[in-house]
This record gives sequence, structure tokens and C-alpha cells, in this order.
Amino acid sequence: MASQTEELSQLEDDARAAIEAATTVQNLTEVRAGYLGRKGSLAAILRGIGQLEPAERGRVGQSANASKERIEAWVAARRQALEASDRSANLAQHQLDTSLPGAAGYPGQLHPVTRIEREIADFFTSMGFAIEDGPEVETDFNNFGALNFPDDHPARDMQDTFFVEGNNVLRTHTSNVQIRAMTGRTPPFRFVALGRVYRHDLDATHYPMFHQVEGFMVDERTSFGDLKGVLYAFARHLMGQEIQLRFRPHFFPFTEPSAEMDFSWQGGWLEWGGCGMIHPQVLENCGVDSERFQGFAFGMGIDRSAMLRFGIPRITHMFDGDLRILGQR
Ligand code: PHE
Repeated sequence: MASQTEELSQLEDDARAAIEAATTVQNLTEVRAGYLGRKGSLAAILRGIGQLEPAERGRVGQSANASKERIEAWVAARRQALEASDRSANLAQHQLDTSLPGAAGYPGQLHPVTRIEREIADFFTSMGFAIEDGPEVETDFNNFGALNFPDDHPARDMQDTFFVEGNNVLRTHTSNVQIRAMTGRTPPFRFVALGRVYRHDLDATHYPMFHQVEGFMVDERTSFGDLKGVLYAFARHLMGQEIQLRFRPHFFPFTEPSAEMDFSWQGGWLEWGGCGMIHPQVLENCGVDSERFQGFAFGMGIDRSAMLRFGIPRITHMFDGDLRILGQR
């Protein structure tokens, strides 16, 4: 009997030390199983009770139960302590710094051409021009006929023009918007049109689809001087105050006189577009009284401006969807 009591008190001492030494909850669970589990040391002692005198059994059984309760209490206390320190270790380790900047996202952004287009639209809007629009699939009449192109003009040739079924073409320039915007209206007009145009051409600086801006103004006393003033303001807004323009006499069926213009760039000249005074016949084709009104018009590609602005060397790079190019700011 004495041996069981001693064993129990030894067991309690060992258990207590092991419980205190446990460093994790998992560890503690194992320690508890070692003493109180079905295959643990306490169970082994209890199994020995059967060999005792019946009179002894009750007392030893009672003190074994008392030992068990004490050990359970130590385990519970230790578990609570370990859980609390786990929590605070966890908190200390994973501190959330709410003052850190958020992770940068990868937002979409506008295509270089779209950015230039919007800039141009803003500029002309600020000058009192209204934005007009026209379709990319256009009648032969609006793209050519009403603009004074004779039926046998080479621009209608297969080399330049994409023909579409019916009497339609992919518009070869934004000048179709002149016809659409002026027909059925009475001047004064101040319009700009921006959009895609199509020509059968492909090399480092030409693409079969490109973008133009068309501007025109019609009033009772609109002059070539007004045209130059607007073009200078536009060129300097787009490409810098030091830009110079050069006007070269040229021919367009829909303007008279006509000029091609270049802008100064790195010691040379780059072709920018065409311009001129709207041909009286074009005004008449739109039902505008050419005795009373006169106007100017200009049209130029804007892809090149986007390429110069963003340092894109080939026009094809603009349209093949490569984010390394399109992602530039
Ligand atoms: N439409 C002409 C072109 O595409 C440019 C232009 C527009 C010329 C308006 C004169 C007036 O080449």
C-alpha cells in the first residue's frame, strides 16, 4: 500500500515538472497523455489496485483520483498560459503596420494615340471648335466626290483606297467629316474631327490604318492668316514653343490655294499634313453660299506626334499590342 502512495506522489511530482517544462500546447497534450492517458503512468498504477487487499483498494483508488484531478488542473493552467503566450507571440510577429503604403496595382492605361487625341480635342475645344464625327466606312461621294475629286483621280486607285462593297470605301482621310458637318447647316463653323483612316500602305512610317485630325472653319472673313495662326498655336501646344512651321505650295482637289506643311524637328523638317482654303465648289456641294462664306481646312496624321512624344520608333509598334511600348507614360 505504501508503495502505491509513494508511486503516486512521485508521479505527481514528475507530472508537475513535465507540465511546467512543456513549451507548446502540442507538447503539453503529449505530456498529459503520458500521465493520464489510457496507456499512461496513472492507468498503470490503477491497474495494480486489483492485487491489493480489498480494504486498501478504496483508499488507493481515492488518492489516485485526487492525483488525477490535481494533474488535470496543472495541465489546464499550463494550457491557458501557453495559449496566451502563443497569441501574443503571434501578434508580436505579425504586426500590421497600417501606415504602410498599399501594394501598387497594375491599372490599365490609355493608348498613346488616344492620349494625343484627347489632348488635341481639349486644345481645339478651348479654341471654340466643336468635335464632329464621321464613319470609317464612307460613301465614295463623301470621301471623294463631294470633295471635288474627279472620277479618274489617282487617289481612288486600288493602291491607296480600300474599296468596300456597294459604292463605299474605308475613308482615306477625315475630310469626309467636312462634307457631313457642313451639309444642311449655315456657317459660322468651327469643327475638328479625329479618327481612323485607311490607306493601302505599310513600312516603318506607314500603316494601313492611322489617325488624322481634321479642322475647318468657315465664316464671312476667314483668311489664310487665320489658318496659319491656328496651326502655329496647335503645333506649339502639341510639340513645344520652339516649333517652326513651313508651308509648301501643293494641290488638293478640295482646297485652293493648298499647302503642305512641315514642322521643324532636330535640325530638319518633318511632314505634318495638308491645308488650304476650302474650295468654293466644296462649299457649294454642301449647300453653303460660297459668295458669302469662305473657310480654311487642315488635316494631319497624329500617329507620328504620338511616336515622337513617346519615343516609339516604328509605327507598327503602336498597333501590335506590346505593353512594354503601350505602358509608357
Ligand atoms: N485630307 C488631306 C490628306 O489626307 C489633308 C487635308 C485636309 C488637306 C484638309 C487640306 C485640307 O492628305
